[in-house]
Order: sequence, then structure tokens, then C-alpha cells
Amino acid sequence: MIVALLNQKGGVGKTTLALHLAGEWARKGKRVTLIDADPQGSALDWSEQRAREGLPRLFGVIGLARDTLHLEAPELARDADHVVIDGPPRVAGLMRSALLAANVVLVPAQPSPFDGWASGEMLKLIAEARIFRPQIIARFVLNRCAARTIIARETAEALAEHDPPVLAARIGQRVVFADAAQSGRLVFDIDETSPAAREITALAEEIGSLVR
Ligand SMILES: Nc1ncnc2c1ncn2[C@@H]1O[C@H](COP(=O)(O)OP(=O)(O)O)[C@@H](O)[C@H]1O
Ligand SMILES: [Mg+2]
Repeated sequence: MIVALLNQKGGVGKTTLALHLAGEWARKGKRVTLIDADPQGSALDWSEQRAREGLPRLFGVIGLARDTLHLEAPELARDADHVVIDGPPRVAGLMRSALLAANVVLVPAQPSPFDGWASGEMLKLIAEARIFRPQIIARFVLNRCAARTIIARETAEALAEHDPPVLAARIGQRVVFADAAQSGRLVFDIDETSPAAREITALAEEIGSLVR
């Protein structure tokens, strides 16, 4: 499976979720490759930091921020159970290429009605990619949700009326995500039983069930 985390908006959690999904599958014994398709290279930085901290390598991270991503990803997918693509912000050519490479497109969004989650441009790009690849599975994933807020529920209802639909698994606003990333860690490295770790496990399982 090739899963791409895409949203033209920066700061919505593409890198955080890409790293954690890759880490979750890797610790469950899958062979995982993460493609850093963001020219800023934050996933590559994380992986470098992880090595510097002397932590065990969970998965390989490859920098591939170019428009030929869709031509190169299948080759990389051959040697892996899962390929996770950490998408770029606001680079149309790269975004199109990542969309064409993926079986599953996840659009992280913050559950605020003012956040512009239903980014017209993102939806347009997905619709465009579906002309060539109608089998693409696209889903919103709500990230940084405040615990049981009405606003999160309202937004989910609004999102459900849209295509693509919203995944049931949500990720909460939890400082451990930011703390972990800074030291080349994932939330499981800090506490396997934490709510953050459990949310990631549930998210990975729901994504797995989409392609079964
Ligand atoms: N669920 C979350 N809870 C708390 N902080 C988060 C969460 N998801 C992301 N962040 C933080 O928000 C910032 C932006 O996230 P990032 O994954 O880099 O977004 P993007 O890749 O879409 O630009 C980072 O500092 C990250 O640690
Ligand atoms: Mg990023």
C-alpha cells in the first residue's frame, strides 16, 4: 500500500502523521519506506536526529521531492509492505505526482470550521487525479482535536457531507507529538500505552481496513 499525506496547508500534521504511521507499521513487523516529498526535508531531519540519538532505526527515509515521484514510488514499493509519502506544501507539480503515486490519500485537517479544511484546491487536485486513477481512496483525518469539543463534532458532521469522507479515528492535540519529534522519537518511544500511541494504532488499523 502506498499512503500519501497531502494538504497544501502547512502545519496540519502531514509529517507528524506520516512518521507515526510508518513507525506504527514498522513496529508491527512491516517493511516500511517513508518518502519525504517535502523540499524542506523535515522527515529526513527527524531520521537524522533519531540516528544521532542512537535510537533504533524503524524504517528508511528517502528524500524524493520531485515531479517524477509517481514513476519512482512503485519501484520503492516493491521492496516494502507499505510506503508512506510525506507530502509537500503548495507545490502543485509535486502534489500531483504524489497523488498519482498513492493508493490511499489522507488529508490531515484541524477540526476548526475556520481552518479551511475543505480546501477547494486540494479537493480539485483529488478530483483531477481520479480522472486518471478512479481507484484512489481519499479520506480526511482530523488531527489536533481538542478532547470531545462540540466544534470537533460539528466539523465532522460537516465533513461527512463531503467527498472525501472523514476517518472515524481522530488524533488529539497532545504535546507529546511535538516533544517526541524534536528528539527523533515517536510517541511509542516515550510511552507505548499513552493515549497518543493508542490513537495512532487505531488510525493505522482503520487505514489498513480501507484496502483489505
Ligand atoms: N496531534 C498533534 N498534537 C500536538 N502537536 C501536533 C500534532 N500534530 C502536529 N503537531 C505539531 O504541529 C506542528 C506542525 O506539524 P507537522 O506534522 O510538521 O505539519 P505539516 O507537515 O503538515 O506541515 C509540529 O510542530 C508538530 O509537532
Ligand atoms: Mg511537513
